[in-house]
Amino acid sequence: MKTAECLNHMAPYLFAQIDKKRDALKAKGVDVISLGIGDPDMPTPTHIVDAMAEAIRKPSNHQYPDYAGAIEYRTACSNYMKKRFGVEVDPETEVLACIGSKEAIAHLHTAFVNPGDYVLAPSIGYPVYSGGATLQSAHTYFMPMKEENGFLADFSAIPEDVLSRAKIMFLGYPNNPTGAVADEAYFDKAIAFCIEHDILLAHDNAYCEIGFDGYRAPSILERPHAKECCIEFFSLSKAYNMTGWRIGWACGNEIAVQALGTVKNNLDSGQFNAIQEAATAALEGPQDCIADMCALYQRRRDLIVDALHAIGVECKMPQATIYVWAKIPEGFTSEEFATKLLEEAHVIVTPGSGYGPEGEGYIRISLTTPDDRLLEAVKRMKESMGR
Ligand SMILES: Cc1ncc(COP(=O)(O)O)c(C=O)c1O
Repeated sequence: MKTAECLNHMAPYLFAQIDKKRDALKAKGVDVISLGIGDPDMPTPTHIVDAMAEAIRKPSNHQYPDYAGAIEYRTACSNYMKKRFGVEVDPETEVLACIGSKEAIAHLHTAFVNPGDYVLAPSIGYPVYSGGATLQSAHTYFMPMKEENGFLADFSAIPEDVLSRAKIMFLGYPNNPTGAVADEAYFDKAIAFCIEHDILLAHDNAYCEIGFDGYRAPSILERPHAKECCIEFFSLSKAYNMTGWRIGWACGNEIAVQALGTVKNNLDSGQFNAIQEAATAALEGPQDCIADMCALYQRRRDLIVDALHAIGVECKMPQATIYVWAKIPEGFTSEEFATKLLEEAHVIVTPGSGYGPEGEGYIRISLTTPDDRLLEAVKRMKESMGR
């Protein structure tokens, strides 16, 4: 049996590979500490679970949902955009419910990219930006993204022949995996660039609620002219500890939102209405759970950054996200170093190379593990590194 040509160019999904290795060790009874995937370890807040318990009993929720999402949910998303960022988006035409933001990001390519086209992605970023391009038999141009430039992807270096065939530029700040944040001037530059070159600017704002030391991430849609070229993706996964629920939304430029909707109409039949009701309760209910979550991650961030510095591992204090982006010692590739930690210390970290070409030389450490396990992991790392 012959699979599609594009699959030959698809690297195995990073986390699926890591899970396999973890499961093999666990099956042998090994105590593995996972600082790999960014999957919150705390439960979904009770008022959201309660809303779900109520919603699941309503027979009307047992039928097919509205393709674009229930208007009540889309209105809650629109109200959130207004309240949180001062951004107006029409729930009827400029908001689309998604089954988690991953699928929506991947399906955006189907709506905008033809075989042979280019997608512009940060050279360190969420793998789905380039994976979605590969699935469309399109190319990815990785925009340089250097530590000395604050991990802001540099779109001024894109060659003309790539630019003329580029359809989407992906950016995502607060950034997974580097924890970098972007300011208004950077967003303005990106918007002007994408308008000039007729490129859709897709901004992934999955981590907008996770900021430290008072940092509050903006929406790109706050910026002037953003709606002329931008679609932005939001997720309830990290903001409300809802990774398993699979719910998010896309909003912004109407043409982009509607085109993505057309793709999704033909691929899925929407997200379970009860989940949309619970997500509505999350967006409209008390928000102190977010402050609590940020305080928890901030404490863990401080704990692990200090512990890593103490064993001579270089890393910066991130202002946002649930990740610490750390330099690996000389003499290893990031994959070799991650494998060494897994095999010798039984600690899972993610090799930076899995996030794109300039991720080489780094590992990503997730803060979604209790304090004592984080410290135990650094202790084991120290031993494995002979420090
Ligand atoms: C940068 C980024 N975008 C999007 C997602 C997708 O999240 P979800 O599909 O759970 O909404 C993730 C998940 O880790 C992410 O890190």
